[in-house]
Amino acid sequence: MPKTATLKIDDKELSLPIIIGTENERAVDISKLRAETGYITFDDGFANTGSAQSNITYIDGEQGILRYRGYPIEQLAEKSNFIETAYLVIHGELPTPEQRTHFSSLLTQHAPLHQGMTRLFQGFPPAAHPMAVLSALMNALGCYYPHLATNNHQRDLEHFEEAVAIAISKVRTIAAHSYRISRGLPLNHPKRSLNYCDNFLHLMFSEPYNDYVATPEVASALNLFLLLHADHEQNCSTSTVRMVASAGANLFASVSAGVNALWGPLHGGANMAVIEMLKSIHADGDDGTKFIAAAKSGKGDRLMGFGHRVYKNYDPRAKIIKTSFYKALASLGIKDDPLLNIAMKLEEVALSDDYFISRKLYPNVDFYSGLIMRALGIPEEMFTVMFAIGRMPGWIAQWHEVARNPKLKIYRPRQIYAGHPQRNYVPTNLRG
Ligand code: CMC
Repeated sequence: MPKTATLKIDDKELSLPIIIGTENERAVDISKLRAETGYITFDDGFANTGSAQSNITYIDGEQGILRYRGYPIEQLAEKSNFIETAYLVIHGELPTPEQRTHFSSLLTQHAPLHQGMTRLFQGFPPAAHPMAVLSALMNALGCYYPHLATNNHQRDLEHFEEAVAIAISKVRTIAAHSYRISRGLPLNHPKRSLNYCDNFLHLMFSEPYNDYVATPEVASALNLFLLLHADHEQNCSTSTVRMVASAGANLFASVSAGVNALWGPLHGGANMAVIEMLKSIHADGDDGTKFIAAAKSGKGDRLMGFGHRVYKNYDPRAKIIKTSFYKALASLGIKDDPLLNIAMKLEEVALSDDYFISRKLYPNVDFYSGLIMRALGIPEEMFTVMFAIGRMPGWIAQWHEVARNPKLKIYRPRQIYAGHPQRNYVPTNLRG
């Protein structure tokens, strides 16, 4: 394996170091290119740019492989649960029984919100999007725990365990409270006796005289949904978290920025867009055929829940979630859902259509995750919030990796300027 790559530019030959990852991923280190030649590299949308060396998640998009800290997603989905996996993603190792118990007790301790924070919800109009509320309140956590949000990485890291428990536990409480308040419903308080997922369902759906009790299949579908979203290396929201962290920002400010990035329909908002697409296909009396033809022509909307920047194969998370989805449907007694029928038709047609095959467009995790949440009774506007709850461990782990990097440099990409050349100021009376 060569240790360097040679680049010839303006008759100058440059030797660039090659970096090799654990899984034999290869990168050319161009960090000295500009200093030595005056050139930068150009990579629109960072599609071929390695922005970090990270130990957290490995993806092989061609083969459809996803591993957290070396463990295949299929094994974690079968044998672990969201909280244990969150610990793994953040700390790098599966917890011992003592560490697991300690982590759970910290999560229980930090589940309720400060009363002052509860009042913040009232300032939002009832129709406020819960992602806007979530982002604002995750950032506000730093105001309630100033010792965890000093914007000095070394000091913030001294209390990392506490910050982790607060972020993971309170994101769930904030999410459920924002839903209850948007519907004018009284708030529920977290219960010590319930595990993470059951507690979330209780916070969302219990009524004053009627505790919500989830079937094991429903709780396990939610658990799996969260686990499958726990991290996904350098995607848009994670890169945002790392970018903000690289400036020295605290954990809460950084993950709050991640929530905003996730909100976009090409990223976490896709699960909601999938249901909207299925509904509109249904309302048009289409079985999906017309929609696919329009998507292929480039005149219609894209097939939401299909395609991925990295996976050029079936998204492994989509495979796992699909199976759990059918189990949850059976436990809820849902037999014939027209949207599900359309989704199955879309998948069948797309997987055998040359347009999708040649572009390697396969179902991604969002194709089924919207349907699963719909079956669990989660309202559509909360879908991306659910993604954010699941992604919290990944954002935390990625923030941690940046914050404890002794050679940390602020993230600062370059650009190719394509605007006006220099010109002189025009006074108002001479314009137009
Ligand atoms: N439906 C129809 N055509 C598509 C789709 C789609 N969903 N996705 C990509 N294409 C076409 C695109 O038009 C282009 O065709 P052509 O080469 O003829 O111009 C080609 O495939 C390549 O597309 P691209 O936009 O260059 O690919 P990308 O890697 O930049 O985009 C993507 C990745 C996920 C943004 C895109 O596939 C997409 O918009 N999918 C729908 C939204 C979605 O499901 N997003 C969730 C992603 S998974 C969750 C997450 O990690 O956030």
